[in-house]
Amino acid sequence: IVEHFVTIQLFRLKKFNKWEVQVMNKQERSTITDLGKCNFRDVCSYFQQKSEERKARSKEEKQEEKKKNEALIEEFGFCDWDGHREKIGNFRLEPPGLFRGRGNHPKMGKLKKRIIPENITINCSKNSKIPKPPAGHKWKEVRHDNAVTWLVSWTENVQNQNKYIMLNPSSRVKGEKDWQKYEVARNLKSKVDRIREDYMRDLKSDEMMVRQRAVALYFIDKLALRAGNEKEDGESADTVGCCSLRCEHIKLHKHLDGKDFIVEFDFLGKDSIRYYNKVPVLKQVFKNLVLFTENKEGPDDLFDRLNTSTLNKYLNSLMDGLTAKVFRTYNASITLLNQLLELTDPDDENVASKILSYNRANRAVAVLCNHQRAAPKNFSEQMGRMNEKIEKKQRDIQDAKQETKSAKSDYKHNKSEAKRKAYEGKKKKVERLQEQLIKLEVQATDKEENKEIALGTSKLNYLDPRITVAWCKKYSVPIEKCYNKTQRDKFAWAIAMVDDTYVF
Ligand SMILES: *[C@@H]1O[C@H](CO)[C@@H](O)[C@H](O)[C@H]1NC(C)=O
Ligand SMILES: *[C@@H]1O[C@H](CO)[C@@H](O)[C@H](O)[C@H]1NC(C)=O
Ligand SMILES: *[C@@H]1O[C@H](CO)[C@@H](O)[C@H](O)[C@H]1NC(C)=O
Ligand SMILES: *[C@@H]1O[C@H](CO)[C@@H](O)[C@H](O)[C@H]1NC(C)=O
Ligand SMILES: *[C@@H]1O[C@H](CO)[C@@H](O)[C@H](O)[C@H]1NC(C)=O
Ligand SMILES: *[C@@H]1O[C@H](CO)[C@@H](O)[C@H](O)[C@H]1NC(C)=O
Ligand SMILES: *[C@@H]1O[C@H](CO)[C@@H](O)[C@H](O)[C@H]1NC(C)=O
Repeated sequence: IVEHFVTIQLFRLKKFNKWEVQVMNKQERSTITDLGKCNFRDVCSYFQQKSEERKARSKEEKQEEKKKNEALIEEFGFCDWDGHREKIGNFRLEPPGLFRGRGNHPKMGKLKKRIIPENITINCSKNSKIPKPPAGHKWKEVRHDNAVTWLVSWTENVQNQNKYIMLNPSSRVKGEKDWQKYEVARNLKSKVDRIREDYMRDLKSDEMMVRQRAVALYFIDKLALRAGNEKEDGESADTVGCCSLRCEHIKLHKHLDGKDFIVEFDFLGKDSIRYYNKVPVLKQVFKNLVLFTENKEGPDDLFDRLNTSTLNKYLNSLMDGLTAKVFRTYNASITLLNQLLELTDPDDENVASKILSYNRANRAVAVLCNHQRAAPKNFSEQMGRMNEKIEKKQRDIQDAKQETKSAKSDYKHNKSEAKRKAYEGKKKKVERLQEQLIKLEVQATDKEENKEIALGTSKLNYLDPRITVAWCKKYSVPIEKCYNKTQRDKFAWAIAMVDDTYVF
């Protein structure tokens, strides 16, 4: 049973989803009928002991382990790709465990099985050295498909999704793909006026399908909604995107809070994140929505003449490579750029306030993309600690000011060089402390504003990194302040090629 308690995650799950039926044999099933009555103390202490043992390792043991790890990476962490040695991304498989999923995922608690060589498909060139499976095992398949970019694939058993081992984000192919993605988004910039004209006209089309398509496009453009949820959570999680919206997901208010034509959205989007928003829309859009919901019940499709694949086909006919995601990327990037222009004070030399401006711009994008998170568990403690630091700094400043005052009066009474120096020194100290205070206050503001917003997703997936890199160069902000190691690896291509005048 220990293998299935890979982490203590079980104790955090509220729902067990019948994993026990999958794992237990007949006799165990008849003995253990209610997990709530089980005592897991031994399992828990087993893991605590393991963790203590790990912490107590000697320096030599740690060194030894590090060496072994490096040897592993050397052996399995690289491949030969078009004559280049490239780093492989996630070449370690996850051990078996319990599936968590996001939100209240219906498959939460299901058992993720151990992956064995018989589950694995290998992709490599015909004439290459094909990796050997562990003794006594066989690969499921070895194929030579030069139209895909994965090296290894398998199907996981919880959601039946394909999983892949690919190259590291810093590799040439990945960098090129990333670059292409942002080039497509930049390309949209020159096409978007025409696309908007078209859907504005189509809002009044005689053909119902065209009208629905126009409203869906309007949502995708103005609200950065996703197109749909074709392959994401399978049929299990009840999450929707633009095309799969149902009548029950919107409420129409002709007037609300002093505004006209308000649509109130409330649905679960990707990863079961709730999308809730009240937005004023064009009168014609509102009229259409009234029309689309006429004679329908809550569970009926809002866009009954539309599906994700027809919408995506249409998008692609408007521009090569255009998808709903490109609208998100385009809007996210252009919003970041505009916000940076608006929020950066070129005269403010303070790096901390520059970062605050950057994070605020990034937050505007995250809000647009609906990248929320639950406030961290000990958020108020963390905030409390920061405020204590600020108060201490304020007291230090008061003290230092007092000292400056007496040093000044000393100097007044005795104009010696030593007294002058002492006075100057105290003044400097006050300035230094005040700078530190500003820095702390800025960090606290940043933290407070970031309470329920996740910046990582938009940074990694929607924001053209060249905007960030150029901004950093222009204002002499070290790139490490905006990107951590993972992000710097992924955006190596942008960090290498950009000067400080990038225009999205
Ligand atoms: C891996 O292969 C074995 C044997 O063919 C099979 O029983 C198991 O379900 C497979 N695992 C997954 C995750 O598909
Ligand atoms: C899959 O194999 C083909 C060669 O058969 C190769 O061109 C392609 O790049 C491979 N994909 C990877 C990730 O190696
Ligand atoms: C981006 O989205 C916002 C918010 O929905 C919208 O108001 C704005 O017009 C969009 N901007 C661009 C340039 O598409
Ligand atoms: C989407 O709609 C088109 C046209 O109505 C239809 O041919 C297609 O089968 C639909 N696709 C799906 C996945 O429902
Ligand atoms: C609380 O926050 C600190 C960071 O200040 C973090 O290291 C710690 O793991 C958090 N504790 C819990 C229980 O989340
Ligand atoms: C002024 O201060 C200096 C240095 O602290 C000291 O050596 C000197 O005696 C003082 N002069 C008077 C007049 O107090
Ligand atoms: C970098 O930030 C991302 C997103 O905020 C996070 O998921 C990742 O673990 C971080 N990586 C490192 C090396 O800190």
